[in-house]
Amino acid sequence: MTSDLFSGLSFHRLREGSSMSSKIKKIYRAVAKKLLAPNVLQRIVSELRNIKLSPVDQHIFLSSLYNEAGLFHPSYEDWRIKRVNKILELYGIDYFEGKNLLELGGGHGEIGAFFAELGANVLCLEGRMQNVNYASLKHRRVANFKCKHFNLEHDFSEFGRFDLIINFGLLYHLQKVDEHLSCCFRMSDDILFESVVCDSTDPYKIIFCDENKDVDEEALEGIGSRPSPFYIERVAKENHFETIRYFSADLNSGKQFIYDWKHKNDNRPGEGFKLRRFWRFKKMATSA
Ligand SMILES: C[S@@+](CC[C@H](N)C(=O)[O-])C[C@H]1O[C@@H](n2cnc3c(N)ncnc32)[C@H](O)[C@@H]1O
Repeated sequence: MTSDLFSGLSFHRLREGSSMSSKIKKIYRAVAKKLLAPNVLQRIVSELRNIKLSPVDQHIFLSSLYNEAGLFHPSYEDWRIKRVNKILELYGIDYFEGKNLLELGGGHGEIGAFFAELGANVLCLEGRMQNVNYASLKHRRVANFKCKHFNLEHDFSEFGRFDLIINFGLLYHLQKVDEHLSCCFRMSDDILFESVVCDSTDPYKIIFCDENKDVDEEALEGIGSRPSPFYIERVAKENHFETIRYFSADLNSGKQFIYDWKHKNDNRPGEGFKLRRFWRFKKMATSA
C-alpha cells in the first residue's frame, strides 16, 4: 500500500541545494491526490457506515460529508468559533444557565445548540424547513434546544420575550429591515447583532439586492439588503437602545468575513459577504 501510494515520486531526484519546501509540497500533493481518489473516499465512507452510528447520526454525518455548499461550507466553522468566543468573552460561561435565548436565522442551529448545552433555553427560528430538520436532528440530544420554522420577514413577537437575542448573519437576507429590527427591540433588552453592511456613513443608506433563494443560506424570499452600519445604529437609537461596537480584528475570519475595515464611503454593497459589523445593543435605562 505504502509503495503504491508513493509510486511515481522520484525521491532519488531530491538533490542537495534544491528547494526542500517545493519538494515537500509536491510529495504532499501527490499523496493527497492518491488518498482522495474517489474510490478511496468511497471505501472510507462505506467502512464508516459499519461503525456504530445510529441511522440519524449516519444521515447527519453523510450530509455534511457530501455537501460543501451553503451552510455546509467549511468557512462557517472558523467564523462561528470567532463569534461564539466573542459572546463568551462578553458574558462568561456561567451567564447562560437558565436564560431564555432566541436565535434568529439559526441555519443548522450550531450557535444556539452551543448555548443550550451551557444551560440556556434556546429557541431557534429559521426560514427553511430543510435547515430546521437538519438542526433538530443534529441537536436532538441537546436539552432545551428547539428549532422552529418561521419566515422572519414577518412579525415574530408572538414568541414572547427573551433575556438575549442572537441575530447573526440574517438581516442582510431580509427586505423589511426596520420592521425586523423593531420586532427584536420589543422582544429583548439585550441583543447581539452581526450583519453585512454597505460602505456608507449615511444613517439612511440602504441598498437592496437580489439573492439566490435556492441557496440554503441566502434570502428566503430572494431579495436581501445592505444597510449602512449607521442605519442600524440609528434604528437602535430610535428604539432607545445603547450601541456597543465590536469592530475588531479578533472577529475576522479568513478573507471572507471582515469586521475591522475602514470606511471609504463609496457605497460598496458589502463586497459579497465580506464587509461586516458586530454590535451589542442594550436597552437604555428610562429616566423617571
Ligand atoms: C448566512 S446564514 C446564517 C446562519 C447562522 N445564523 C450563522 O450566523 O452562522 C443565514 C440563515 O438565515 C436564513 N434565512 C434567510 N432568510 C430568512 C427568512 N426570511 N426567514 C428566516 N430565516 C431566513 C437562511 O435560511 C440561513 O439559515
